[in-house]
Amino acid sequence: MKTQVCIIGAGPAGLLLGHLLRAEGIECIVLERQTGDYVLGRIRAGVLEQITVSLMERLGLDARLKAEGLPHDGFNLANGERLIRIDIAALTGKHVVVYGQTELTRDLMAATEERGLEVIYGATDAAVHDIDSDAPYVTFGKDGGEQRIDARFIVGCDGFHGPSRQSILSRGAEYHREYPFGWLGILADVPPCNHELIYANHERGFALASMRSETRSRYYIDVPLTEKVEDWPDERIWDELSIRLGPEAAANITRGPSLEKSIAPLRSYVFAPMRAGSLLLCGDAAHIVPPTGAKGLNLAASDVHYAAEALRAFFKGYEADAIAGYSDKALARVWKAERFSWSLTRLMHRFPEDGPFERAMQVAELDYIASSKAAQTSIAENYVGLPV
Ligand code: FAD
Ligand code: DHB
Repeated sequence: MKTQVCIIGAGPAGLLLGHLLRAEGIECIVLERQTGDYVLGRIRAGVLEQITVSLMERLGLDARLKAEGLPHDGFNLANGERLIRIDIAALTGKHVVVYGQTELTRDLMAATEERGLEVIYGATDAAVHDIDSDAPYVTFGKDGGEQRIDARFIVGCDGFHGPSRQSILSRGAEYHREYPFGWLGILADVPPCNHELIYANHERGFALASMRSETRSRYYIDVPLTEKVEDWPDERIWDELSIRLGPEAAANITRGPSLEKSIAPLRSYVFAPMRAGSLLLCGDAAHIVPPTGAKGLNLAASDVHYAAEALRAFFKGYEADAIAGYSDKALARVWKAERFSWSLTRLMHRFPEDGPFERAMQVAELDYIASSKAAQTSIAENYVGLPV
């Protein structure tokens, strides 16, 4: 097979990029290791920044997002019994939209046929070759045989564990930090306990009250990495949430059976540069943020925006070296989101190594945020997403 751009990975980054390229008349093929149903079964992000919403709008794939997404003008930081509201709409003039990554991916998947975007599911052992040439290619297994796609560029949108970054590890630097806990998430068909999100720092640990709709809630608590999902029957999670989220939210929690329950490790990670020769990396393939701050999916969207611009400039003949600028542009935004996610994680979690001094610093910072419009504005502008 021959195409202009071969994309590895049909998560949100790969599908968004595929659609943006097709909209420009650029040929591309997306390879996905899993089935479509498997991809849709992963419950992940829930908060969309303007950049993500506007890409869906530009593609004309935002009908359901507009109808079902919940615009949020603010969110809350809780510290024990105190609730600090960050009024993002008043402070920045922007808002975020609560709409599940699953639904966004479903909308992108549903439009592939009609938009002529070819996605090959069940593609095993994808490997990139000759990326230092103008004629790189990808090999993969399908239905028992090996296949090959020749392209002008390959874009790795294959997440943190995919083969794209692995193939260029020696060509860049890895920056990372692991955290000593994971987020245990529960999804349930019960109304949310609050109309806006609450990120809580409690002496027993972190908790987040989020939602997918007026009738579906998503909650998280942090747990040591040694814990297993089996250690956490639903009732134990509801009990813990009721303590950590504070009395007001606890009074409004409706309990219900979990539709999904999983533990995600927290890490900060950046691989730089995000390109080697004819291979570009987008999204989790190049970087990971801890989920505090809801930046991962949105960063994947901004990478895709920069990659689509660079590829368009290249193929439309405006700029021969457009591709060379991709990594620096993307990384400038990535590092700022890494900083924000890291600092909000630091502020809202109890680290096992922390002593009374570190705790006093958290209390002082939360106090400062509660009393300072400047501090709230800084949080709000990062939360809604820095300019692209
Ligand atoms: P992925 O979604 O990981 O997609 C990569 C795709 O590549 C997958 O489909 C995978 O199967 C495929 N793949 C892998 N290897 C191969 C291979 N060898 N060949 C072919 N295909 C391959 N982000 C936010 O912005 N807001 C949030 O509120 C938020 N909450 C989160 C909550 C949790 C619990 C978690 C875990 C994450 C959260 N994130 C959030 C992060 C967000 O989900 C990710 O950043 C996002 O999924 C990145 O998209 P991606 O397309 O780059 O990678
Ligand atoms: C959700 C996840 C996040 O990481 C976050 O910061 C906010 C909401 C969610 O899954 O709803």
